[in-house]
Amino acid sequence: MTTLRLRPEGPADTGPVRRVLAAAFARPDVSTPPEVGLVDELRDTDAWVPELAMVAEYGGEVVGYALLTRVRVGAEDGAVPALVLGPVAVAPHRQRVGHGTAVVQAALDAATELDERLVVVLGDPAFYRRFGFTRADRMGLTSPWSGLGDPWQALVLPPSTSGAAPVPRGEVFFPPPWSKV
Ligand SMILES: CC(C)(COP(=O)(O)OP(=O)(O)OC[C@H]1O[C@@H](n2cnc3c(N)ncnc32)[C@H](O)[C@@H]1OP(=O)(O)O)[C@@H](O)C(=O)NCCC(=O)NCCS
Repeated sequence: MTTLRLRPEGPADTGPVRRVLAAAFARPDVSTPPEVGLVDELRDTDAWVPELAMVAEYGGEVVGYALLTRVRVGAEDGAVPALVLGPVAVAPHRQRVGHGTAVVQAALDAATELDERLVVVLGDPAFYRRFGFTRADRMGLTSPWSGLGDPWQALVLPPSTSGAAPVPRGEVFFPPPWSKV
């Protein structure tokens, strides 16, 4: 039986990840969707957390992707770290069979293992609420997208050790590559 393998991306995954993103976010008005460049640029910044770029592999093929990268809460150069989830993508021919849910959950589990406490996301609550995401503005978290209401969401991860950091509140600052999407 073919099973889904969930693992952090490696150097050989860059091309396959680009192809999954390009296919999942394809639009008639652009040749390459901005999500492809976003991931390429984030990979070269200190926002990149290698353990939290998660691929889903099915039958030896990369079919899904969920990325968690670093954001800062409270001040642009502030010391309070959090994570943003996205892009999340599944190759069109493998959508709606659970791969998206599995790869996002794997990324969140890996973040919990690293003692991360907070993840924000901009997306459809119909997909993200299954992981426990709720409206971020009601948790005291603001961003350029907070005015959108429901799509601006956050999730507090469970503390994995007794010394877990407190959950941050305030303005969420995204690294420069995010300004392009
Ligand atoms: C969103 C996406 C990652 C989901 O992956 P998937 O493997 O199809 O998802 P799963 O099979 O794990 O889960 C499917 C569930 O998510 C829901 N769902 C799927 N795509 C959705 C979308 N774009 N918006 C909202 N809900 C969505 C389905 O209704 C289904 O719900 P159910 O479990 O109650 O039946 C995938 O459809 C995709 O790559 N879409 C294009 C890229 C995109 O829009 N990414 C950002 C999402 S906000």
